[in-house]
Amino acid sequence: MTSAKIIDGTFLAKEILEKLEKDVKSLKRVPSFVVVKVGCNTASEIYVRNKLRKAEEIGIKGNKIECSEDISQEDLITIIEKLNRDSAVDGIIVQLPLPKHIDENIILEKVAPEKDADCLNPKNIGRVMLGNPFVLPCTPQGILTAIKSVRKELTGNSVAIIGRSNIVGKPLVPLLLKEDCTVSVLHSKTPDLTKYTRKADIVIVAAGAPKFITETIIKEGAIVIDVGINRIDGKIVGDVDFERVKEKAFAITPVPKGIGPLTVIYLMKNIVDLYKKQHEPSES
Ligand code: GUN
Repeated sequence: MTSAKIIDGTFLAKEILEKLEKDVKSLKRVPSFVVVKVGCNTASEIYVRNKLRKAEEIGIKGNKIECSEDISQEDLITIIEKLNRDSAVDGIIVQLPLPKHIDENIILEKVAPEKDADCLNPKNIGRVMLGNPFVLPCTPQGILTAIKSVRKELTGNSVAIIGRSNIVGKPLVPLLLKEDCTVSVLHSKTPDLTKYTRKADIVIVAAGAPKFITETIIKEGAIVIDVGINRIDGKIVGDVDFERVKEKAFAITPVPKGIGPLTVIYLMKNIVDLYKKQHEPSES
């Protein structure tokens, strides 16, 4: 058994970045977005910094609004509504998680669907579910690109998704169904998770548990996609026991440099697409 193909997310993201850079240069004005961050969550600080850096690299204008941890829900809504009305802002990102006193669902519903760079507004995710997307969710797009880099045709593949979050597990389902996959969404209350993972052609894990996926619970030749980001002794690791699983899988994403760079680049692509839809719609 040969070792698995390592899916290089940084390389795949660079290909998309180069296209985006060209695209941005051809536009009448620079697309722009604002990230709204509440409080000081360390992981959020890093994510926001990465988004702003990537934007600068591509030539997109990114700004952030930092709100104090104790901002009221009402005041946060006022900030979002102001951004909704600002014609110089093409994309809005509300960095999650939000503090407990703020209702995430209410906030995401306030982001204008036309400016919803994360595809987290219920109207946009509803359109994805119905197969008529306005914008696509970022991490699921990255996951699909990673899978398709090693397997072009997915019809009939069985997929086990571990984790049912609004950012990864749930929005992945319509994208994989569109590819004619058979999809199971597993979670912390699934009685025997291995019953599904051992039969799956593709295993996607976003469980937030280091080394959760071992070689004993996957099928020989499976594609294994690791969306986990865990910090252990200052080092970032995923949810997959990479060294052991790579000896059994057909292909595997590493952490870091797997799905992470793809998520950020698709966010940038969404911002450019939202700008175009708002300000430079094509004739067709
Ligand atoms: N927090 C963790 N991941 C994400 C993401 O993809 N988008 C937003 N807005 N917040 C996050």
